[in-house]
Amino acid sequence: MLAIHNHPSIDLEHKYGAHNYHPLPVVIESGLGVHVWDTDGRKYFDFLAAYSAVNQGHCHPKIINALITQAKTLTLTSRAFYNNVLGEYEQYITSYFGYDKVLPMNTGVEGGETAIKLCRKWGYEVKGIPTNKAKILFAEGNFWGRTLAAVSASTDPTCYTNFGPLMPGFQVIPYNDLTSLEQALSDPNVAGFMVEPIQGEAGIVIPDEGYLKKAYDLCKAHNVLFIADEVQTGLGRTGKLLACDYEQVKPDILILGKALGGGVFPVSAVLCNDEIMLTIKPGQHGSTFGGNPLACKVAMAALKVIEEENLSDNSFAMGCLFRERLNAIESPIIETIRGKGLFNAMVIKPFGYAKTAFDVCLALKENGLLAKQTHDHIIRFAPPLTINRSEIMEAADIIENTILSFNTEL
Ligand SMILES: Cc1ncc(COP(=O)(O)O)c(C=O)c1O
Repeated sequence: MLAIHNHPSIDLEHKYGAHNYHPLPVVIESGLGVHVWDTDGRKYFDFLAAYSAVNQGHCHPKIINALITQAKTLTLTSRAFYNNVLGEYEQYITSYFGYDKVLPMNTGVEGGETAIKLCRKWGYEVKGIPTNKAKILFAEGNFWGRTLAAVSASTDPTCYTNFGPLMPGFQVIPYNDLTSLEQALSDPNVAGFMVEPIQGEAGIVIPDEGYLKKAYDLCKAHNVLFIADEVQTGLGRTGKLLACDYEQVKPDILILGKALGGGVFPVSAVLCNDEIMLTIKPGQHGSTFGGNPLACKVAMAALKVIEEENLSDNSFAMGCLFRERLNAIESPIIETIRGKGLFNAMVIKPFGYAKTAFDVCLALKENGLLAKQTHDHIIRFAPPLTINRSEIMEAADIIENTILSFNTEL
């Protein structure tokens, strides 16, 4: 089923770009709302939404307007000087999420790095952990990016093999396992536990109800910071503003990214209260582009759209409808459907001659819907949160017809 393609854009990428991705063979030229169009003018539903960075839909007019207006005025000063937008943004985002302070960065992984640096600093200077002994806990299957620290925390050999030596001071415990967490927390040098409320790249892995709250409570009982990586799950994706909201957990450190940039460019943020944030002093951390006025205006517009258009509620309602439709498909190749809000996965059973989720994604593409597999057997369905009822029904028809077309190959 793997298509032979010699599209000039694909050829150029193959020849001149590093081969660190394996994209579906489709070349997208434009996007609007929940749709994208390829260079032949074919229209597709975008059911990846750039790994949830396009929650507000492609080219949202309010976000694009904010971008254009600010781009014509001032784009970057660095933090060597003040600019007249950063403070306004900081006030906006901290009151939006209820924290004392924010540290602005660019990519999600920089958010994770920042959270860990803050956590270690807090561990030494507030908790009193002996120098260089601080430990951060992570959960098996975590994914938070591609820096050396991020791959050091990873349990996926593809991410870390031959990138060593890896970062010390990290310990990985099983996800969704409170006994292991409690055991690990008995070490007084543990400073933090960094966790995704739902593991995205691992395949939309949803922990048991109550896990987050109990994990948070255990962290509190051991004077350990609970760090939520909501880079992918945040900003309405799972049907609430934050996935932690399902269990009324307010993380000590909250990491946001992806849709904070409204699908326009990288904007990430780390939020926490003064006791933690003020451990970092001038000169101890930063980023040339972090907090640039263009990013600040885009992020404010991105957050406003989520609020004004009730995207969290829409995500919740459309997610229920979507899963209802997928659960009704009777096919031996579907192992399970799971998800929250518009953060969903279809787990595919091995079928046919070595067919995988990638083959299903290729067929979906032929039928007008773009989705991407994670691992060999899981397809993530995560469209922009602006999707409406009739679009969900149309997309579900495409998925149903595609899945049913495979049955004869079993
Ligand atoms: C949960 C989570 N954290 C962090 C990141 C890293 O974000 P970025 O690719 O912007 O560095 C990702 C990316 O997929 C993610 O899913």
